Amino acid sequence: MNAHTELKLSDFGERLSRSDTGTVQLLEGMSKALLEPGRINLGMGAPPRPSPIPSIIKRAEIKTVHKTKHVDRHRYGRPEGWLPFLEIYARDVNEMFGCELEPEKNFAAFHGSSFTNSLILNTFTGPYRDFGLKAIINMPEYLGYQGQFLGGSENCVFSLYQKMRETGHNFFVFEPDLKKFRETLENPEIYLFVISNPNNPSTNVLTHEMLEKMVSDVVKMGKVALLDEAYGKPHPDLVYKNSSYEPILGKRVVIVNSASKCCMEGDRLSVGYSEDTEIMDVLKREITNSAFHAPKPPQALFKTLIESGDIIRIENHLREYCKRNLERAVRRFKKECKNSGSVLIHENQSSFYILMYPTDLPKEVTSHDVYKSLLADYGTIIVEGSGSFYGIPVNERSKELGYDALDLRRKCFRITVSPRPKILDQGMINVAQCLDGFYGTNA
Ligand SMILES: Cc1ncc(COP(=O)(O)O)c(C=O)c1O
Repeated sequence: MNAHTELKLSDFGERLSRSDTGTVQLLEGMSKALLEPGRINLGMGAPPRPSPIPSIIKRAEIKTVHKTKHVDRHRYGRPEGWLPFLEIYARDVNEMFGCELEPEKNFAAFHGSSFTNSLILNTFTGPYRDFGLKAIINMPEYLGYQGQFLGGSENCVFSLYQKMRETGHNFFVFEPDLKKFRETLENPEIYLFVISNPNNPSTNVLTHEMLEKMVSDVVKMGKVALLDEAYGKPHPDLVYKNSSYEPILGKRVVIVNSASKCCMEGDRLSVGYSEDTEIMDVLKREITNSAFHAPKPPQALFKTLIESGDIIRIENHLREYCKRNLERAVRRFKKECKNSGSVLIHENQSSFYILMYPTDLPKEVTSHDVYKSLLADYGTIIVEGSGSFYGIPVNERSKELGYDALDLRRKCFRITVSPRPKILDQGMINVAQCLDGFYGTNA
């Protein structure tokens, strides 16, 4: 029987398979674009792998296979993860905070931070109550959250534009408006505060003092904070600026780290932890109900890397390499771009991204035009910035901020500096020439 019947989706299926999210566009667009040889990938959020990182990881893989029994690594395990791994991860967290969190009570391994975030966002927001529950986030924020709000990011997110402060030589930083944050948090519909700190896409890192103020407001009001520390401490610790930066522990606060940013992105491993065992118990039951537990082999590998000190070596190499590449990329861009005086660049504080905001472009030009031209004419892939501004009314300008927020949202874009230096140089030349074309100087 070949009768053609329409595929019907549940509300859950509809929402989880949305194709208009930044993540789907990024991953699908990137896989298609990369099929053609010679592309320069300044898009994907994957760390570089400078020598000797690949050989350190390979050695650790071999050691892990020899050291742990096959059955230990491959048979079903506990909901929270593989205890020997959680024990060593808890050791590093406890040293960092000077506290005594317990591996089996306060920690859990997950299938990557996207999955962890998804569970947390949908546990505390969404239309599943007679009153709507929303999250509050600062803008710009990680584009990967957008598709994870199963109630729809338009309904579940309250977004705040941040203040923009120029720091000289065309660099700027974002700063949360604490007063506005507090006022907005009072909205009874808001129950969750979400922040990627260090931030993707801006690389902004909040100082300990600033984060403490925000989190203590959240906790005082009886709400929950999700601190997405995908680039944070104790691992992978890809932070260059803000020496006072530290995550915050506390009742109703959950912290998530990702192994992806230590060059294990294909392994899909993240660690979530909290003082709050009530929240951890909820999350563990959710893992059990949806997926039993996170895979054990990546946990075994990560344990070997931490135990041997190799993780610190990897992190040191990454920080040094990324920092050099970041400086090189900005230098090259400024040298090549005739209009570099109009391009604001977010001061780099962490990870391996550059957020660029070409001001004074013709009104109709958006980062989508820049993306398309870079791909078609220069074989270079970037990430459009607009994907990081979900949950904000399309025409919101927030004039009181002192800058045109709508223009920022439409024109900014993100670059990843993970490629090898010579390829990165060419990528930055391409970005410079492409922007000059839009500014009109190459016409
Ligand atoms: C802030 C942030 N959170 C989460 C993720 C997702 O990480 P994972 O690979 O662990 O799912 C990323 C990846 O780029 C990120 O930048």
